[in-house]
Amino acid sequence: MESNRVLFISDENEASRYIREQLMVEGGYAISSEDSARDGLGVFGRNGFDVIIVKPYPLDLGPVDLIKGLKAADPDCVIIVLLDENKPETLEYLFSLGVYDFIAKPINLEKLFFLVKKGIDLHNLMLANRKFTQGLKENNSALEKQNILLTKRIEDSTRNLTRLHEDLQSNYMRTIKVLAQTIDARDHYTHSHSENVARYATVIALQMGLSVKEIEVIRQACELHDLGKIGIEDSILMKPGALTNEEWQQIRKHPIIGAQILEPLTFLNDVIGLIRQHHEHYDGTGYPEGRKGEDIHLGARIINLADSYEAMCSARSYRKIPFTKEAAIEEIKRNSGTQFDPKVVEAFLKVLDRL
Ligand SMILES: [Fe+2]
Ligand SMILES: [Fe+2]
Repeated sequence: MESNRVLFISDENEASRYIREQLMVEGGYAISSEDSARDGLGVFGRNGFDVIIVKPYPLDLGPVDLIKGLKAADPDCVIIVLLDENKPETLEYLFSLGVYDFIAKPINLEKLFFLVKKGIDLHNLMLANRKFTQGLKENNSALEKQNILLTKRIEDSTRNLTRLHEDLQSNYMRTIKVLAQTIDARDHYTHSHSENVARYATVIALQMGLSVKEIEVIRQACELHDLGKIGIEDSILMKPGALTNEEWQQIRKHPIIGAQILEPLTFLNDVIGLIRQHHEHYDGTGYPEGRKGEDIHLGARIINLADSYEAMCSARSYRKIPFTKEAAIEEIKRNSGTQFDPKVVEAFLKVLDRL
């Protein structure tokens, strides 16, 4: 809102009366006038003005107290001083206190009108700027509040989505596990095979110092490791006698078939890698790729040993009487460095009492 209010503070004398009248008559300004600095400060504090014309000498307060008092009431107030003489040190001092401009004797009324007009414009501009800045601050704080609210909503949604995602993954896992158990159950000789392999592999992996996350991947891979047998005929899987070369070729496909079945479930990528490699041998004589040594994932090397040990300790369609535990351990030792990674064998031997 534009205003046009001028406060005149000066001791009462003819010169100041004349100036005041000129401002009212010629300038058309509404002038309030005080002849004491204290009263001037009081009026200014109560009503506010756009421009204050001050004749600082002589008054009941020094210019420092008066100007500081005005600035304290309105930091944007525009102060014009009337001086008897134009002394640079006085001017410098007054400007340092925040005075806007000055006029020295002899007073040029035209110049004074011009300064007052400019001062009013400036003050209005500063008021508008203050209002605008305040508006910006309010908008900013409203935006910040909105932002906090939105961030919280996003966090809640993300949490819900994560929970849903985890539920979905664990449902998937349960379904696949049932599928894997169905394969074990197809042949009563292999009943609980995957479960036992998972137990052995977990204990060995723990002994080898693998992380909880790595062990969980190994455990899941164990539960699903023979999933690919779903694609192999019962007559081959459960054949009591020796397999023909062709039947053997079929059996050797199961790590790849298992990996292919699970491939669309990208969250199982690490698990799939282990399934693909669970029949690789440390010396490169395994299948499907004939990988060697460290080129076989450590998890797959562990599963291979756990898988073999479990198979030896259980009856099979082709071997009705299982190995004794001692014989199975001897067989594992004998194959250390050929089929099995010696480091895995070493860990296995340390945890035998826990298997
Ligand atoms: Fe297998
Ligand atoms: Fe197996």
